[in-house]
Amino acid sequence: MDEGLDVRRALVAGNWKMNGTRVSVGALMEGILRQAGDLRDIEIAVFPPFVYLGMVADLVRHTPVVLGGQDLSDHDSGAYTGEIGAGMLRDVGCRYVIVGHSERRQYHGESDELVARKFARALEHGLVPILCVGETLAEREAGETEAVAGRQLGAVLATSTAAAFQQAVIAYEPVWAIGTGRNATPEQAQAVHVFIRGQVGLRDPVAARAVRILYGGSVKGGNAAALLAQPDIDGGLVGGASLDAAEFLTICRAAATRIGAAQG
Ligand code: PGA
Repeated sequence: MDEGLDVRRALVAGNWKMNGTRVSVGALMEGILRQAGDLRDIEIAVFPPFVYLGMVADLVRHTPVVLGGQDLSDHDSGAYTGEIGAGMLRDVGCRYVIVGHSERRQYHGESDELVARKFARALEHGLVPILCVGETLAEREAGETEAVAGRQLGAVLATSTAAAFQQAVIAYEPVWAIGTGRNATPEQAQAVHVFIRGQVGLRDPVAARAVRILYGGSVKGGNAAALLAQPDIDGGLVGGASLDAAEFLTICRAAATRIGAAQG
């Protein structure tokens, strides 16, 4: 078993994507916060749409739940209509920011180089970037899974140092598993996580042991325990299931159980 498991605190991150109203956000947070106090061994983070960050920041103050942004600009500030800067995310209380989600790469044309610049910008401002990597179905079927993850990670390693991953998180999210109900098997995910950790480890073994690698793509209450039992899966980046408090908390409990298993 990977000896780093006991030093990597599990992280369950709820990516709400473009969903919610003031009313539904309030209800969802009420449900999560009712039980989050019992789950202090793990870290729980929520990623609301930008317009609800301030509201959720007020709700999570003095609770164990932390906040993150779904994206950020690669610029600091200025004439960039519609963009949100890293400093702003810090200012409203974010700890994390998702960088290079496949939906940004796919629908907003984000290149590996732009993602690398965003990653660096997040670190400069004291945010913890969650770098998303992952292959499409065609790429998996062509046997290119490692090549794609390696290329996406490589662009970041070329811009930031490997040591930066001591302050960062990676999420392996196969595009074919996102929102499809078809998750990677625990073994498939574990194999890619080992590859990713190895890529960081070639340059910085300490960072490789420390970096948390989340799995994302149709994580649900029913499959979370098996995925999180894998030694190199350090948590989950959860989309659809994070919009339901009970389902999200089931995933959080699976992560907490993993910790118990590692220690016991
Ligand atoms: P999903 O999304 O859980 O709805 O598959 C995961 C993600 O895109 O982060």
